[in-house]
Amino acid sequence: MSVGKNQPAPDEIPEALRDVTPVMEAKRTRFWLWLGSGVGLAVLGSIVGLYLWNENSKLSVASSPQEVETVTPKTEKKETAEAQTESSSTAATPPDLLGHLPYESAPKESLTPVTADGRIQLRTPAAQAFIKMQNEARREGISLVPLSGFRSIAQQEKLFFGVKAQRRQRTTERAEVSAPPGYSEHHTGYAIDIGDGKAPATHVETSFGETEAFAWLEENAARYSFELSFPENNAQGISYEPWHWRYVGNQESLEIFYKNQSK
Ligand code: DAL
Ligand code: ZN
Repeated sequence: MSVGKNQPAPDEIPEALRDVTPVMEAKRTRFWLWLGSGVGLAVLGSIVGLYLWNENSKLSVASSPQEVETVTPKTEKKETAEAQTESSSTAATPPDLLGHLPYESAPKESLTPVTADGRIQLRTPAAQAFIKMQNEARREGISLVPLSGFRSIAQQEKLFFGVKAQRRQRTTERAEVSAPPGYSEHHTGYAIDIGDGKAPATHVETSFGETEAFAWLEENAARYSFELSFPENNAQGISYEPWHWRYVGNQESLEIFYKNQSK
């Protein structure tokens, strides 16, 4: 808007008619400047205060290891748990060969004979348990005969390939009744084949399952920590072997047969 010749410009309003004098205006400006700075400083101070308080609480939480665990973010914890589950489930499926699981050979010095001629041996705790079981069975009129105990990898090799050739069996057919070398429970020294001394015709035959010795074992073997390795329809798909028992009465044998195994 243009200003008329005779009309004063707004800042030329006569002083007497102005609302505020320039001095008052300057005072007002200074007041707002002070007020603005004061509020700004207060806000800045609150932010700094809040930040320091937060840092301090973190430090006091971190001073206790248990509490550090408590403040671990949930998502991080979940991922750790999942990673552990994944790694343990990977380990829970050991590599099998034709349904048989790998086993290490027992050291010679860990073995004790279970026959008078010393030809059949088991790991000492299994040997002691078997002899006790055999004695109790004998007192009850039952004859438990050890047929095979610890077998080396070389012995299993002959048994697997030698008998396979004799019987002209295919590999899968042979593996239904015999483990490939390196994969027999007999390597551990914790497995034993048991026969009925009164029924030798049933030795290492499924008909052993109908003998009184087998009936006695079914009733009593668990008291001596022996269990059947290959019952009918076992998860490994191995033929029913009523004569083949394993000892699971100490930490080592439990770990050998159950740790990380899928069955
Ligand atoms: N007969 C069992 C499977 C073995 O050979 O170990
Ligand atoms: Zn056996």
